[in-house]
Amino acid sequence: MNANRPSRRALLTAGLALPMGALAACRDRGQALAAPVPTPPLKAAAPFPVGAAISVGGLEDADYQEVLLTNFSQVTADWEMKMEQILQLDGTFSFAKADMIAAYAREHGLRLHGHNLIWYIYKPASFEALAGDRAAFERAYGNYILAVAGRYAGQAVGWDVVNEPVAEDGDGYRDCLWRRVFGMDYVPIALEYARRADPNAVLFLNDYNLESNPKKRATFLRLVEDLQRRGAPIGGLGTQTHVQPDLASGAIAAAVRELASTGLKIHVSEFDVTLQHPRLMSREAKLAGEARLAQEAAEALAALPAAQRYGFTTWGVRDKDSWLRHPPNAGDGTDAPLFFDDLGQAKPAAAAFVRGAGGA
Ligand code: XIL
Repeated sequence: MNANRPSRRALLTAGLALPMGALAACRDRGQALAAPVPTPPLKAAAPFPVGAAISVGGLEDADYQEVLLTNFSQVTADWEMKMEQILQLDGTFSFAKADMIAAYAREHGLRLHGHNLIWYIYKPASFEALAGDRAAFERAYGNYILAVAGRYAGQAVGWDVVNEPVAEDGDGYRDCLWRRVFGMDYVPIALEYARRADPNAVLFLNDYNLESNPKKRATFLRLVEDLQRRGAPIGGLGTQTHVQPDLASGAIAAAVRELASTGLKIHVSEFDVTLQHPRLMSREAKLAGEARLAQEAAEALAALPAAQRYGFTTWGVRDKDSWLRHPPNAGDGTDAPLFFDDLGQAKPAAAAFVRGAGGA
């Protein structure tokens, strides 16, 4: 990880934003390949579901929908199913945007992966107010999980029940509101409520840098093994795979193999390769690294037993839809982290993914 790169938390929660005019100029500059790379539909080329993170805003764009429906068979809501969208200040729930994502998936025959129920970043006032009363807090905690996971029971194929439980550096687990009240039992408690809400969904823990940080992966796996020993209803592991193009060959494959040694389903859950780092690498070399890592990740997932291949999700549809092209992560507005360029044309990474997945 690049030492001068702002932490994940800073990126996710900072109020910073480029002056919108400057950003709009960057974004409108667009990033299109000279010539698209002939590639079959990704979902037809892989022995596992191929997913994308989508947004209600993206669904208003016909080109976005064409790339999505041609190439992907599964969707994850980028933001619309998160607590910060659903839980209102007065403690009520609003499912309007989440329902739009679910309805779109249903209408277009797309699998729906739920993301996410409990995350260290969430600390809503309505929960903070109950933190001194464990019984009341657990009633609210369970009620939220039952309401959200229960609403999509029968449609969602899986849920990221707890997102990013491991500390940034891998040394222990994140401090968060949920842990303050329950200790680390917040994880199995959430899994149990999610299982009550939806008896059929695959229940995941999901985290990042499991590929680039073996210490973080080991801490993650210690939590998983403890949950398995306790008989918690955990069914899958999400390795987000937000990586840089200079990540060593074999790192992703090693992570997938080690996570799969638990016997649980594996979801490459948020794949993207930022071209914003490392700075001294040429754009051509970064694009080549992006393709190399896409192929490796696809190969690693395809090599698993069929029962463990949950899916491969890119965190966005086209480069310009990526969270890495929007504040506060936008950089200079030219990032190209996904398989399709700003015009929806397949990039070398898409062809590399197809090769790795074993497709034509
Ligand atoms: C990101 C969304 O893509 C952004 O739109 C939002 O501003 C911040 O969150 N890991 C996760 C995702 O699990 O939920 C995050 O999604 C990206 C990092």
